Amino acid sequence: MNSPAKILVVSGSARDESNVHAVVSLAARTARGAGAEVRELLLHRLRLPVMDHGDAEQAALAGVREVRESAAWAEGFVLVTPEYHGSMSGCLKNWFDFLYPELAGKLAGVVAVTGGGSGDMSITAVKTSFAWCHGFTLPFHAAARGPDFEEGLLQNQRVIERIERIAHDVVRYAPLLRGTFEEARALGRGVEAGFAGTHA
Ligand SMILES: Cc1cc2nc3c(=O)[nH]c(=O)nc-3n(C[C@H](O)[C@H](O)[C@H](O)COP(=O)(O)O)c2cc1C
Repeated sequence: MNSPAKILVVSGSARDESNVHAVVSLAARTARGAGAEVRELLLHRLRLPVMDHGDAEQAALAGVREVRESAAWAEGFVLVTPEYHGSMSGCLKNWFDFLYPELAGKLAGVVAVTGGGSGDMSITAVKTSFAWCHGFTLPFHAAARGPDFEEGLLQNQRVIERIERIAHDVVRYAPLLRGTFEEARALGRGVEAGFAGTHA
């Protein structure tokens, strides 16, 4: 029997009291129900420093090690970002900045939590950063707006179903992509390895 898909659900909120957490819980619960082994990374708990490329002391911090270790462990991701000024949160962008090879050849589903906007711009920002780390993203996404929540609980059934669909698809496709990427990487640095050759 195949081992369960390893899925990391990331909260891009810097706050404890955030609608983002209801979305993270829903995605994690759904992925577990689909048979995955799931971890949740709540960035507000880590209090990461702003990434300083080349700072050896930062690399040794427990929070930074957790970010890199959990991303390396995962085969797939559900990334949940608050929309701030038409983009992802600085907190989530900072998470990306600590990573690169840990995301290559992997799959992410993306969900935005907004005050009232469509979420398109923050979703696009997250997808772009994931692609620039050589990862794939699902061809659809979800956005939950402020009015979709009541007292921190997500109430809009249409949005709930969309998030559940994303979680199922990440569990379904992430192991396939990861396996194919690792096979390509094993071919070495030649062109036949495609982009995986740049990670050989
Ligand atoms: C600095 C800042 C910028 C924001 N920019 C947007 C925005 O561009 N579009 C939008 O729909 N909501 C915007 N909002 C509202 C947040 O997306 C919304 O409150 C969301 O729930 C924030 O998640 P949080 O509770 O984790 O901060 C902004 C909120 C803040 C604090």
